[in-house]
Amino acid sequence: MKTVLITGASSGIGYELAKVYAENNNNLILVARRKDRLEKLKKEILEKNNSKINVLILEKDLGKANASFELYQEVKKHNIDVDVLINNAGIGIHGEFSKILWADMYKNNSLINLNIRTVVELTKLYLDDFLQKNKGEILNVASIASFFPGPIMATYYASKAFVFSFTEAIREEVAYSNIKIGTLCPGPTATEFEKSPNMEKSTMFAKLKIMTAKKVAQITYRDFEKGKNIIIPGTLNKITVFIARFLPRKTITKIAKRMQEKK
Ligand SMILES: NC(=O)c1ccc[n+]([C@@H]2O[C@H](COP(=O)([O-])OP(=O)(O)OC[C@H]3O[C@@H](n4cnc5c(N)ncnc54)[C@H](OP(=O)(O)O)[C@@H]3O)[C@@H](O)[C@H]2O)c1
Repeated sequence: MKTVLITGASSGIGYELAKVYAENNNNLILVARRKDRLEKLKKEILEKNNSKINVLILEKDLGKANASFELYQEVKKHNIDVDVLINNAGIGIHGEFSKILWADMYKNNSLINLNIRTVVELTKLYLDDFLQKNKGEILNVASIASFFPGPIMATYYASKAFVFSFTEAIREEVAYSNIKIGTLCPGPTATEFEKSPNMEKSTMFAKLKIMTAKKVAQITYRDFEKGKNIIIPGTLNKITVFIARFLPRKTITKIAKRMQEKK
C-alpha cells in the first residue's frame, strides 16, 4: 500500500484525486486550509472504502513562508513514509497586471508563493527522501497554460510555465533513479478555480467545453500509473497544446488574451 500526499484536497481536482487514489487502495494525507471540507472528504472516503485505508488530514496554509517545511515535519511526526507527492494546490487571479495597485500586490505574491515556491520546496523535501530510498513519485499540477503566455492572468500562466519547466528539468536530473516524476496539465475544468477573483466572466470558462474534475482525476491516475510523465487530459486540450507549438508566439498570446477577456 502506498501513501499519497495531496495538497489542495479540499475541492476540485485534488478532492477527486483523493477519491480515485482511495478507491485504488492507497493511504492518504490530505492537505488544505479548510479542515471541515477535509473532514467531510475523509468520512466519505472511509465509508466508501470500508475503512480499509488510512486517511490523515492536515490543515495548512501553504501560501505562508515555512509552510512546506512545517508540513514535512508534521508528516514525519506521524511516522508516515510518503510514497507519492501530488503538488496540486494552486490559485488563479484574473485581471490585468498593469492595473494591479501596489497595495494589492500581496495577492499576486500569494499566488507566486503557493503556485511556485511551495511546489519547489515540497519537491525538494520529498525528492531528497525518495532519492535515499530510490523510490517515490512526484506529480506536479501545471496546466495547459504552461504552454503559452496568458495576458489578463499573466502571473498565473507564468507560474504554470515555471512548474512545467521545473518538473521536466528535475525529471531529467534524476533520470538515473527509480523516481517517477510527472506533470499534470489540465485544461479548463469545472472546480472552484472558476470562482477565483474576477474569473467567472472570462470567456474561457463561459464558452469552452470544460471537463469535470472527476474525469481529470481518473485520467490522471490511469496515465500516471502507466508511467506517462506529461498528462494532458482530454482530446481538445491535447489539440490545443499541439497547435500552440506551431503558431507564432504573438498569435497564441493574442488568442490566450481573448480567452481571458470578459464575455
Ligand atoms: N480548474 C481549472 O480549470 C484548472 C486548469 C488547469 C490547472 N488547474 C490547476 O489545478 C490545481 C487544482 O485547482 P482546482 O481547479 O481543483 O481548483 P480549486 O477547486 O479552487 O482547488 C484548489 C485547492 O487548493 C487549495 N488551496 C488554495 N490555496 C491554498 C493555500 N494557501 N494553502 C493550502 N491549500 C490551498 C484549496 O483548498 P483551501 O481553500 O481549503 O485551502 C483547494 O483544495 C491548481 O494548481 C490549478 O492551478 C486548474
